[in-house]
Amino acid sequence: MPKTVLMCPPTFFDVREPKNPHMGLAIDRVLAQHQWENLCGAMRESGLKVEFIDPVQDLDDMVFAANQVFVGEHPSVGKFIVPSRMRYPSRQREVAFYVEWFRRRGYRVIELDLNREYLEGHGDLLWHPDHSRVWAGYGFRSTRGGVERFATAMDKLSFPVVPLGLVDKHCYHLDTCFCPLNEAAVMIYPGAFAAASLDAICSGFKRVHHLSRDEALQFMGNGVAVNGRFITPRLTPNVSHILVKEGLTPFVVDTSEFEKSGGSVFCMKTFID
Ligand code: ARG
Repeated sequence: MPKTVLMCPPTFFDVREPKNPHMGLAIDRVLAQHQWENLCGAMRESGLKVEFIDPVQDLDDMVFAANQVFVGEHPSVGKFIVPSRMRYPSRQREVAFYVEWFRRRGYRVIELDLNREYLEGHGDLLWHPDHSRVWAGYGFRSTRGGVERFATAMDKLSFPVVPLGLVDKHCYHLDTCFCPLNEAAVMIYPGAFAAASLDAICSGFKRVHHLSRDEALQFMGNGVAVNGRFITPRLTPNVSHILVKEGLTPFVVDTSEFEKSGGSVFCMKTFID
């Protein structure tokens, strides 16, 4: 069970160039700071320890701590990270700051030769809850080639990687439409996936719960299930019902300002153990 998350204060958070279809409206920076602090509180109240990385001026998306590196652990390699290659040049600079944070704490850095491919960390690469394999979205931000190179590296550590083709541009990262709740259950918005990918999801989880497109676009598939809680920006009767079935208690936190940038709860942290 992961115990610690890494988060980045939204000091320099802003919405500038549109990198996904959710981006457009201006943010309220004071409200964003307040919401981010609430989210840290929700993480702590859910039993997680929260660590921080210093925000960097001009890196307006650095608050989305899920994207810059993939974090893992392997019996022979120990704790490791795989640095991302972000699609937008404005986000590429974030990666070095995160890599340095992990390097200083002794994580092994597995650099991939991504060449012209893209790979966007835990935005698209989600561990199965038992860490037996990785679900890997591609199509809008990470590329199929990026996921393939990642899969080759993970194969050496005996971690299978399941590629999932994304087809709805509003669900541009896997974490917007695919939300594992426990080893047996996942919530997905099925319309976000290519047909073969849906089959792969159905064979990987005993219970596949469906979100509507509207629920996915309101980031209910971007929650975090931890220690019997589900931290989510909002609830509908459908999502509440799914949580009851899976024995999870909802913990609602408002993330409206970050949603204007295309991110919510899951995007603003990365599990580091
Ligand atoms: N504005 C950011 C971008 O488009 C949002 C990233 C959200 N992160 C995530 N893991 N989905 O890059």
